[in-house]
Amino acid sequence: MKAVIPAAGLGTRFLPATKAQPKEMLPVFNKPTIQYVVEEAVSSGIDDILIITGKGKRSIEDHFDRSFELEYSLRNSGKTENLREIEAISDMADIYYVRQKKQKGLGDAISTAKNHIDGEPFAVLLGDTIAQSKVPCTKQLMDAFYKCEASTIAIERVPDEKIERYGIIKGTQFSDSVYKIEDMVEKPSFQEAPSNLAITGRYILVPEIFDHIKDVKPGVGGEIQLTDAMRSLDAVYGYVFDGKIYDIGNTFEWLKSSIEIALMDDNVRDELKQYLRECLSKGN
Ligand code: G1P
Repeated sequence: MKAVIPAAGLGTRFLPATKAQPKEMLPVFNKPTIQYVVEEAVSSGIDDILIITGKGKRSIEDHFDRSFELEYSLRNSGKTENLREIEAISDMADIYYVRQKKQKGLGDAISTAKNHIDGEPFAVLLGDTIAQSKVPCTKQLMDAFYKCEASTIAIERVPDEKIERYGIIKGTQFSDSVYKIEDMVEKPSFQEAPSNLAITGRYILVPEIFDHIKDVKPGVGGEIQLTDAMRSLDAVYGYVFDGKIYDIGNTFEWLKSSIEIALMDDNVRDELKQYLRECLSKGN
């Protein structure tokens, strides 16, 4: 299975940090966000990845490319650990790029992947969303997809006040973690929302989605929404995956993600805990 990583959004919820750099390149703890996303695809067994970029996103391509000057300098100064790390980033997978020429929404971005996908089911991992779990989220979804034999998307229960940030599903519970989706609505108000089960940025889609995207009219924000296109697929299942989603789409969520992911690192956990305790006791 191939993966598609949309990373073409403008990052307006994160200005000024994203004025001259892609939000997908903002580091969470010690790595750019999109590196976590590519690593998730790779550890799910995917080695063909298409990243959808746009204007001002060139640093994403540079990040996954070889950097000969840097490698030369690290080799000469005996920094072999760093060298290995840098080389591993560019050797991870076959990464391809396509540019979305105009920011017309997530559905439109996905439509640029049609030729690369070539008629097979494919995974979508949003480039600004990190999923942390024992079994990679995309791998869990792939397993569910092969069982359900239909498009399967990751869903997560969200608190009422966050509903309006997400696509929300209406569905009936099919098994412990699987819902059969009856309808979906992109960014509804709390009053309009059919549930608090949110679409969380990981999808396995059948290639028919491309035909449905073509027929979709601009929706929320005047954009071509993937959620609207998925509504007319024959069947879609929602999978409550075992793990945690970090959506770094705004400053506070990004900050929390960095702290939580740093707390998972054996080398910094104790020092960071101590520092956080000190900050809280000083009341600042
Ligand atoms: C997109 C999708 C939305 C989904 C969300 C997850 O919205 O359109 O359905 O719930 O990602 O992060 P965006 O955050 O790009 O506005």
